[in-house]
Amino acid sequence: MKVLVTGSLGFIGSHLTDALIELGYEVVGLDGLKTGSSIENVNTKATYEIIDLFDKEMVLKCFQKYQFDQIFHLAAESHVDRSIQNAQPFIDSNITGTYNLYEAVKLTQDLSKLKVLLFSTDELMGQLTVGSFKEEDLCQPKNLYSMTKQAQEAIARSYFFSNNIQTITSRCSNIYGPRQFTEKFLPTIITSIQQQKPIPIYGSGNQVREWSFVKDAVNAAIFVIENGNANEVYHIGSGIEKPNIDVVKFVLGEMKASEDLISYVQDRLGHDVRYSLCVDKVNKMGWKHKVSFEEGFKHTIEWYQENERY
Ligand SMILES: NC(=O)c1ccc[n+]([C@@H]2O[C@H](COP(=O)([O-])OP(=O)(O)OC[C@H]3O[C@@H](n4cnc5c(N)ncnc54)[C@H](O)[C@@H]3O)[C@@H](O)[C@H]2O)c1
Repeated sequence: MKVLVTGSLGFIGSHLTDALIELGYEVVGLDGLKTGSSIENVNTKATYEIIDLFDKEMVLKCFQKYQFDQIFHLAAESHVDRSIQNAQPFIDSNITGTYNLYEAVKLTQDLSKLKVLLFSTDELMGQLTVGSFKEEDLCQPKNLYSMTKQAQEAIARSYFFSNNIQTITSRCSNIYGPRQFTEKFLPTIITSIQQQKPIPIYGSGNQVREWSFVKDAVNAAIFVIENGNANEVYHIGSGIEKPNIDVVKFVLGEMKASEDLISYVQDRLGHDVRYSLCVDKVNKMGWKHKVSFEEGFKHTIEWYQENERY
């Protein structure tokens, strides 16, 4: 099985690459060495194409070299705060980059056997205070990052209807684990504690997020591309919901650090108060989240302690 993973040198893409190699797949990783990537994430059994998806000509040339059975599309700019400061890289990588990818697929691949999985996010649904979002609920993104993820889903859907590309979408909740770039919430908490620096918490810290361990999210992506139907969306979550402040206090406790490091800062505009995904659809198909909050967080904290220079 020949598989392409875009964003393969980033956090989730590198874990996915490792998992696919372990399954015996032949993996080509495509990455533009942008934010979140690290050369330390290379898997020596994979082949890499260092290409910016924004570069349409290079993307097409790359695709002309291969015939893939599966494509996992993860490459994206993914930090909400940065998208609010400057959305341009998000438009270029997430929207134009995704268009360039599907266009190259259309022009070069044998569409009778190819399946594409778009790795999307719960954030594009917008916030909700009670209950959980179902796949068919209205998407109401409230920041530029989420808007570009919704645009990616629209691009995928259009290529399904217009060109018969068999493309499936997995929408995941907040993912954490080893190798996550330090701009994200959990690595920020851990590295702030390591450096005895204030841990910035937006507003009251009561924003609720649903936490999924990276290995669960990766297994779900592999499960969904194998078992899902084209043009359908699959929600991937854990049911583990925590207010941000509780997450910070848990990590402080595990690292035996003082709560004096907590530093409340002004909340950002449009900050969603809660995300939650209904995962009945994948559960009924046979996929279940496995890693508990305590197990996943302890493992991640230990990893950052052993890899301080990361
Ligand atoms: N981390 C989460 O909690 C989460 C949750 C749901 C969905 N997602 C989605 O998962 C995907 C991966 O997220 P991550 O957390 O691993 O991010 P990451 O920043 O760690 O990795 C992103 C990778 O994509 C590459 N990339 C970005 N733009 C590119 C471009 N134009 N051309 C080629 N490569 C490019 C980067 O170099 C990097 O290696 C994203 O699509 C994100 O929206 C993430």
